[in-house]
Parts: sequence; structure tokens; C-alpha cells
Amino acid sequence: MNKIYLDYAATTPLHPEVLNAMLPYFSTEFGNPSSVHRFGQRADNAVETAREMIAALLSCHPHEVIFTSCGSESDNLALRGAAWAARVQRGAKHILISPVEHHAVSQTAEQLATLFGFVLEYLPVDEYGRVNPADVARLLREDTAIVSVIHANNEIGTINPIAEIGDICHARGVIFHSDSVQGAAHLPISVSALNVDLLSLGAHKFYGPKGVGALYVREGTRLHPSQTGGSQEFGLRAGTQNVPYIVGMAEAFNLAQSHQAAHQAQLSALRDHLIGTVLEEIPNVKLTGHPVERLPNHASFVFEGVDGNQLLAMLDVEGFACSSGSACKTGNPEPSGVLTALGLPRNWGLGSLRVTLGHDTTPEGVKSFLAVLPQLVERSRKINQG
Ligand SMILES: Cc1ncc(COP(=O)(O)O)c(C=O)c1O
Repeated sequence: MNKIYLDYAATTPLHPEVLNAMLPYFSTEFGNPSSVHRFGQRADNAVETAREMIAALLSCHPHEVIFTSCGSESDNLALRGAAWAARVQRGAKHILISPVEHHAVSQTAEQLATLFGFVLEYLPVDEYGRVNPADVARLLREDTAIVSVIHANNEIGTINPIAEIGDICHARGVIFHSDSVQGAAHLPISVSALNVDLLSLGAHKFYGPKGVGALYVREGTRLHPSQTGGSQEFGLRAGTQNVPYIVGMAEAFNLAQSHQAAHQAQLSALRDHLIGTVLEEIPNVKLTGHPVERLPNHASFVFEGVDGNQLLAMLDVEGFACSSGSACKTGNPEPSGVLTALGLPRNWGLGSLRVTLGHDTTPEGVKSFLAVLPQLVERSRKINQG
């Protein structure tokens, strides 16, 4: 039976070159980067080389790259760190985010509001889940501590006008964070072009290991550490660094960014074929997210009257691994917050399907997927109608 993985936005397999780069740091090169002796120095060199590689790819200084344990932790450090520092510095208490953020941002912001006295406000989005920079200008306040807008959406693939939003925030002296955990895997990432003060990355979306991430912190941006302890990572993230994973992240990011244009061209052609065929051949379907300003590997739909989780199970039986909304939310019987923010009615929002392509996706694989999908959608509709 076919086993075709079409869920690269959930995670990607480790690139073999990444694994090779990591291996010595699990065995001979086991030192603690904070130790003074030569074992420590060698580990420290590996971490600093990785930091320099990532900084060169982001077009920033190495000391602006903070290693974390994952994309979620990067989001947590950005939001908590900036919110706490802005409150201490100038009494700021307002937080502005989009309604289509990953939970790592939205739940953190909600907690800052409910437990720490911040005032949380949501920006509107259009039918594609895009933030209009004019709304940021309208809703910014004197006491805004941080604005956070996702770069490329994990559920619907929409890319936001990050540079324009950054301009507006900077003109008003407000810190701007963007979650680029999905974006950095597929788009060119220069922090100066993107105009951000804080940018979250996670290695496992670009063929690196799970359990390692980074936060870009523009020089001069005040942050309080959210994990306290030792002085690692310039005092912003306590804890002995995960040397092999950090080495792997740098290697993976280098590979992803070096081949970015070629992968974008190859994946977007397959994606466009997939989207075009689904919209043409299946009745009562909508593309979710922006038709053009979207991740090159990302196709996402809603089917009226379909149970998204049931459809995923049927696809799995046929050998296709896809997702409904984001992986963290499977099993949740309500439409996701992102789909609700697009204004989709419940009987559409419950029938979501995300198909994300990657290195091992072939035209034949997409063809066989397209050959089974229409009948599975029809079967799910029949079951749901009773
Ligand atoms: C947009 C976005 N942000 C954050 C995360 C969380 O990243 P991690 O799994 O590395 O914690 C994800 C993962 O799905 C994501 O897609």
C-alpha cells in the first residue's frame, strides 16, 4: 500500500546531511559549552559556529540569535520577555496580536492578560487571514508593549505583510514580533527586510531536529528572560545548550535557505496543480488562505458537510498522511480559531484539510492523492448526512 506523507507543515524528516553534522556531538564532542576546559571549548565553538551560520542567513549579528528548545519557546520568550520588559521600562500593558496566531503566541498572550494584568487586543483579518497594516496603525496605543503577527500561517498558508507592519510599529516605537516557524522553512528570511525586532524559528519544519529553535532579538530590544538560571544565551535563556541539536539546526537552515528558490519553484508548481484539481473536481469546496500570498508547499481547503477528522482517518487508511488544521489540534471537534476568524460557518469549518508538500513529494504521489480524495469526500458527506 502507498504511504505518502503530505504533512510537512506538521514536521519534516531529518535531512541526512543534518544527521551527519549532529552525530559527533552525541559522542566524542560531548562537552558542556560553559566549561572552561578544552571539551567545553570545542562544544562552545560548535554552538558559536552554528550561531554565526544562522546569523549570516538572517543577515544579523550572531549575538542577536538566541537558541531555545523549540518554536513554541521562542514565541514564549518573545511575548513574555518583551511584555515584562516594556512594563518595567515604561508601564506598557497593551498587547496586540492577530486572531490567526499559533497557540504558542495566542495562549501566551492570553496568559499574560489573565495572570499578569496585560490588556490583550486582537487585530482583524480579511477572508484570507491577512492582517491589514492600516489596522495595526489604528489599534496601536501609547502603552502597547508588543505587536505579534504570524509570518506565514501554519493552518492556511497565508503570508502576512510583515515588513509594512514592522514599519508602522517602528514609527511608533513599539516592539514587533513575528512567528516565522513556517515561513523560515520556505521563504527568504532577512530580518532587516522583514523589519522585525523579534523572529521565531523552529528547526523541525526545515528538515532539522525536533526540540530546538531560535529567537532573533534585534540589538537594543529589551527582553526579560522567561527561563531564569545560568547566563547562557546572553542571559536570555538559562540552561545548558543542546549542542547536537543546535549544530543540526544551523546545518538544516543553511540547506533550506541555500535551496530556497529552487524548492519554492518546484513545490509551488505541484501545489498549484493540486489546488486547481481539487477546486475543479470536488463540489462545495473552498480554498482556505490566500490564493497567491501563500506558502509554496501549502494547500488547504474546507469541504461543506464533511468531518475533517473522519476524512483524515479515511485518507490514512488509503495511505495518505495529511492534517486538519494544525497537528496540535487534532481531536478537537470545534472548527479551529483560525478558520473561525476567516468567518467560515461551522459546517464548513469542521471539514478542513491541510495538504503540505515537501522534499519527497512527487507528481505521481500528488496524482494518486487526487485520484482518491473526491470519493472520500463524498463518502464522508454521505455518512454525515446519516
Ligand atoms: C507557526 C508555528 N508556530 C509555532 C510552532 C511551534 O513550534 P514547535 O513545534 O517547534 O514548538 C509551530 C508548529 O507547528 C508553528 O507551525
